Amino acid sequence: MIPTIQKLASTLMTPGKGILAADESESTMSKRLTSIGVQDNTENGRRFRDLLFTAPDVEEYLSGVILFDSTIRGMSNSGEHFGRLLERKGIMPGIKVDKGLQPAPNFAQEEISHGLDGLRERLDEYYQLGARFTKWRSVIRITNDLPSDTILRANAHILAYYAAIVQEKHMVPMVEPEVLFEGTHTLERSGEVLHKTLKYVFEELQAFRVSLSGLVLKTSMALPGSESGIAINPMLVARETVRVLKDVVPFSTAGIVFLSGGQTPIQATENLNAIALLGNLPWPITFSYSRALEEPVLEAWKGLDANTDVAQKALLHRLSLNVAARKGAYKKEME
Ligand code: 13P
Repeated sequence: MIPTIQKLASTLMTPGKGILAADESESTMSKRLTSIGVQDNTENGRRFRDLLFTAPDVEEYLSGVILFDSTIRGMSNSGEHFGRLLERKGIMPGIKVDKGLQPAPNFAQEEISHGLDGLRERLDEYYQLGARFTKWRSVIRITNDLPSDTILRANAHILAYYAAIVQEKHMVPMVEPEVLFEGTHTLERSGEVLHKTLKYVFEELQAFRVSLSGLVLKTSMALPGSESGIAINPMLVARETVRVLKDVVPFSTAGIVFLSGGQTPIQATENLNAIALLGNLPWPITFSYSRALEEPVLEAWKGLDANTDVAQKALLHRLSLNVAARKGAYKKEME
């Protein structure tokens, strides 16, 4: 029997697990490789993904992995499609389907995600390749004057239209309006922008009759800007984030996952832990990190097969800490 999208969404939110966002575009992957002094070619990106997905018992920690177009088509060292390999391990393959950002005409410094053209056809193909959930990311920058209402609305509208199409194709849309960490803003300003962003997104989702119990919100945490000079205090981050989420995210939403957005791996774990510790959340929460999971793995790997073991251990260690944080059981000593 084909599982309903509601069942798929609750499987993604399985207690004790989280999601790995391994959906970097080729250009982002090439930056990651360059950062550890490894030649930035497609093969090295493929080897890195192989290392991540074949880490022993990684399925104990992961309910899903988000892939990029070339990765879902790519092959593991053992000659199996990555999507199939994940499926066999009981990890749900997901796929990033937006085609990146384009400058918004007439609105300097703001961008709109594109990729709706031909989306239905692409989804049919991804479904065949094993994908059961999708991701669409839009980006919201904070300055004194940004974001503008017009572009915030436009992105919310597109996210909702995308989500409706994905549900029509029996997949779970992950809806990701990323409010950027970069900037000089305060925690309060971040909370204010996050509030408005999510308010618009859920208004549009409801207008498009999207089933919220078959949808996962991927959100930023409310954080003081990375160039603000303000220290990150996990308790304050958690309070502001949860205040905003409780105010605007309907309780029928299947789950909320967090992106790491440029926080260090430890900050991302500490903040998730502080959010879970506040308790009484009406939706399941977990992590859907890319950088905060992959950075220590890249550092340990350095492109060498001889380091595969230690790099996989670094991944499993980070995953175990975040799984603990998801239920508020993380302690600094566990690092
Ligand atoms: P980061 O955790 O590195 O922010 O990536 C998550 C993601 O999926 C961004 O789209």
